[in-house]
Amino acid sequence: MQKISVIGLGKLGAPLLATIAERGFEVVGVDIADSTIEKINKGEVPVEEPDLAKLLKKNRLRIKATKDYSEAIKNTDITLIIVPTPSKKNGTFTNRFVLDAVKNIAKVLKIKNKYHLVVVTSTVIPGSMDKEIVPVLEKVTGKKAGKDFGVCYNPEFIALGSVIKNLLEPDLVLIGESDLRSGRILENFYHKLCINKPPIVRMNFVNAEIAKIALNSYITTKISFANTLMQICEKIPGGNVDDVARALGFDSRIGAKYLKGGLPYGGPCFPRDNRAFNNFAKNLKVKSLLARSSDKINNTLFKYLSSKISSINPKGKIAILGLSYKKDTDVVEESAGIKIANSLAKKHKVIVWDPTAIENAKKLLSPAIRVASSLKNCLSNVDIAVITIPWDEFGKIKPAYFKGNPKKTILIDCWGIVDQVKLQKVANIQLLGQSYNE
Ligand SMILES: NC(=O)c1ccc[n+]([C@@H]2O[C@H](COP(=O)([O-])OP(=O)(O)OC[C@H]3O[C@@H](n4cnc5c(N)ncnc54)[C@H](O)[C@@H]3O)[C@@H](O)[C@H]2O)c1
Repeated sequence: MQKISVIGLGKLGAPLLATIAERGFEVVGVDIADSTIEKINKGEVPVEEPDLAKLLKKNRLRIKATKDYSEAIKNTDITLIIVPTPSKKNGTFTNRFVLDAVKNIAKVLKIKNKYHLVVVTSTVIPGSMDKEIVPVLEKVTGKKAGKDFGVCYNPEFIALGSVIKNLLEPDLVLIGESDLRSGRILENFYHKLCINKPPIVRMNFVNAEIAKIALNSYITTKISFANTLMQICEKIPGGNVDDVARALGFDSRIGAKYLKGGLPYGGPCFPRDNRAFNNFAKNLKVKSLLARSSDKINNTLFKYLSSKISSINPKGKIAILGLSYKKDTDVVEESAGIKIANSLAKKHKVIVWDPTAIENAKKLLSPAIRVASSLKNCLSNVDIAVITIPWDEFGKIKPAYFKGNPKKTILIDCWGIVDQVKLQKVANIQLLGQSYNE
């Protein structure tokens, strides 16, 4: 069986390392952070992700972490690079960390006689593989890509909170390849890694690079469309976005996923990939009006929701439940809950709660906001409560949590998860995308 190395053991790299080991491969992880290396070698998690702790512990004998590129590259056959590619102000990404990793790999490949496959998994801007990454590999090794060693671009389509599941059962595997041999080796690796026999789509580098950011940009279009429907339905007596979206979702040309009117999209991928797509098109003098519009709709939605909540009770005390950008993660990048809390804190007393993301959120929350000590504490004595993330514990909110509130609390359930019958005596429940005034 081939041996694999993974460079960059963060939110995506650490779960990938554990998943590869779970599927029977020996795997070496490389990171620049000492604490990450120490944790992984002890079988501990460097990042929070469902099932990561279990897989790291279970497969400890097949996993090794090191800072030493030489040890990792010499002793493995395929190297996957998953280091950050942060966004720049204009929306494009920097390849700085990928190029650092590539140079370190190339120094070892220069003296390694056996064939090796280098795979870039980090999201890069189209043109990066041909213009920057392969030239550096060839220059430092003094060898030819596609002949002396292989190169692939292989972005992952995962969502935080379900990374391991998405790696094992992806909708598709996308491979950009320097040559047929490289693509074939990576395809065979995925036949062993995935448990669901996904379509494996192979092409040249640039088309795979465009497909990666185009896919995320397209999904933001769907979300923003559903959120426009949500605002329309709120203005029409009897309107209900869930009914409208449900009907649309049954059409096979549309599909139901990501077609739920509600909160703006956030997190480390959708907003930035969409902006990158827009910037990439702009540089080609193509007007990507759809990508720009979904970004604009998303940004105005924060204002729409904040003023809607504020207008219910302009002096009311407000609880925001949910600070991560989605369920089952503690990542708070572009979190709707934090943005709405900060906006409301300009006029209202705001208290917040989240089961995992409080520590990360504290850095981004306005100082005027109080952090609750528990879900029950957060709901005590508030006029309005807003559920921004469908965490399981929010679905189990009990009537007793509202005890002592002078009036019925307005509970805005953005995900429709609470037990309306159980709570009807203590809370007036409102769902997004439905009209209430008529
Ligand atoms: N997180 C996601 O949801 C997601 C989804 C799809 C794609 N991606 C892409 O994957 C890439 C990585 O994202 P992430 O969220 O895992 O990042 P992250 O910041 O969580 O982790 C990156 C890791 O790389 C390490 N690192 C940095 N430079 C290094 C180097 N030269 N050598 C070795 N290690 C190095 C860091 O110490 C860190 O542990 C990005 O390009 C991102 O766009 C991320």
